[in-house]
Amino acid sequence: MKIKALVAGNWKMNGLKASAKEVKALARLIAKSPKKARCDVLICPPATLVSTLKEAAKGSKIAIGGQDCHANASGAHTGDISAEMLKDAGATYVIVGHSERRADHGETSEMVNAKTQAVHRAGLIAIVCVGETEAQRDAGETLTVIREQLAGSLPKGITAKNTIVAYEPVWAIGTGRTPTADDVAKVHAAIRAVLKKRFKSEGEAMRLLYGGSVKASNAVELMGVPNVNGALVGGASLKAADFDGIIAAYR
Ligand code: 13P
Repeated sequence: MKIKALVAGNWKMNGLKASAKEVKALARLIAKSPKKARCDVLICPPATLVSTLKEAAKGSKIAIGGQDCHANASGAHTGDISAEMLKDAGATYVIVGHSERRADHGETSEMVNAKTQAVHRAGLIAIVCVGETEAQRDAGETLTVIREQLAGSLPKGITAKNTIVAYEPVWAIGTGRTPTADDVAKVHAAIRAVLKKRFKSEGEAMRLLYGGSVKASNAVELMGVPNVNGALVGGASLKAADFDGIIAAYR
């Protein structure tokens, strides 16, 4: 099955209005490349920049997304932002269940499940993150942890159009360390098997992203792994040239 890849940037808590110049620069790099990238491109900035970057990305293929949302559409939840609000600001995707939210905000898979449903309620695409910690990996629990997170975080009835799964080993995030291609292949094959069993043909067609220290120098190898349909990129998505170097894996 041919699945169109997605190269997604997660800016985390980085970026000011001036960062719109990176999006404009990326749009220029993509447009002037002699070979067309055979992938979709997404940037998920802090919520404060969604509408600014949407404007900066106008006329390009770059989509804009959120990094988290509340499970409700509106209400008395000071400081929170709903999927509907992100959509209103110009987002078409929302990342949910990132390990930094699971760790910093105590988000459980049950909460991630509710947020994923909220993303769908708003008509947006959810990027649901899963990944094991280093201790879990050392204890040989990687696949058990991933299967539990998938079972808990993914609501019933999801489709390949409205949901993407991102595998991000916690120990590989921001560390410069990555699993071997073989290790990524094993985990992604296990994720695919879970998705196929539960969601049938939708699970077969769903995009699976790898995230954790992806950069231009390892993108070709990591993106070439079976069942890897793109990347979720942190640090290397902040600068247009670095991010374009990863998109180049699909040229
Ligand atoms: P890095 O690419 O900086 O390792 O971050 C990965 C990540 O957490 C993307 O969501």
